[in-house]
Amino acid sequence: MKGIILAGGKATRLRPLTAITSKQLLPVYNKPMIFYPIETLIKAGITEILIIIAPDYSGHFLNLLGDGKEFGAHFSYAVQKEPKGLADAFIIGDEFIGDDDVTMILGDNIFDQDFSNEIKNFKGGAMVFAKQVPDPERFGVVEFDKDMKAVSIEEKPVNPKSNYAVVGLYTYDNRVVEYAKNLAPSVRGEIEVTDLNNIYLKNGELKVNVFNTLWEDAGTFDSLLRVANLMAEKTNSQK
Ligand code: TTP
Repeated sequence: MKGIILAGGKATRLRPLTAITSKQLLPVYNKPMIFYPIETLIKAGITEILIIIAPDYSGHFLNLLGDGKEFGAHFSYAVQKEPKGLADAFIIGDEFIGDDDVTMILGDNIFDQDFSNEIKNFKGGAMVFAKQVPDPERFGVVEFDKDMKAVSIEEKPVNPKSNYAVVGLYTYDNRVVEYAKNLAPSVRGEIEVTDLNNIYLKNGELKVNVFNTLWEDAGTFDSLLRVANLMAEKTNSQK
């Protein structure tokens, strides 16, 4: 299993903080944001990691993270010139992924969960995670039937069919690279990970794991502050 951290993007919602650095280098309590997705992948047993960054501040990532040895991992880097969408990770990552399966995590998604069992037991198809949230319309939303089997996934629906958001950690078999290459851009001009998930869903090959531990997308002022406070509480309670 290879790992990709998607840490490019424009981070317009965090301006002016992101006028001078990348969102994923901003502090979340006592460490740069990108440490969290790195640690989530490593905890899940994934140590061969491609970090996708935007051209601006790319040298800062290299200075901070290096080759990954200090984390007990191996990092490679790729530059995404324009934010073409989350599914672009699998096109940029084509060579890196090779013949392997791949787990992609968003560089601003913060978890406090050990995913190693699910990753170890991944047997092909696609696997995503969903959590109940108060504002599902901001995310990909999964609708379940009465047996909690996923029946639809919609990207940022105006009228969400449930309050289960698909979070930013996705595991796919090797076919994802070809599927990504064949996606058409959505109305907002991006190639969408939700479209990939729908391909697997239609084939009956999408597993959705519901979970209920900490998850924050740290991309807004309020969520960034919230997750920093949560991590401060957690760190101080362990002292
Ligand atoms: P978003 O938060 O959707 O986008 P953004 O970071 O550019 O922020 P904003 O909406 O405020 O302008 O992206 C989620 C994560 O994915 C984030 O870590 C950036 C990353 N990303 C890329 O690396 N490339 C892309 O093409 C996109 C769309 C996002």
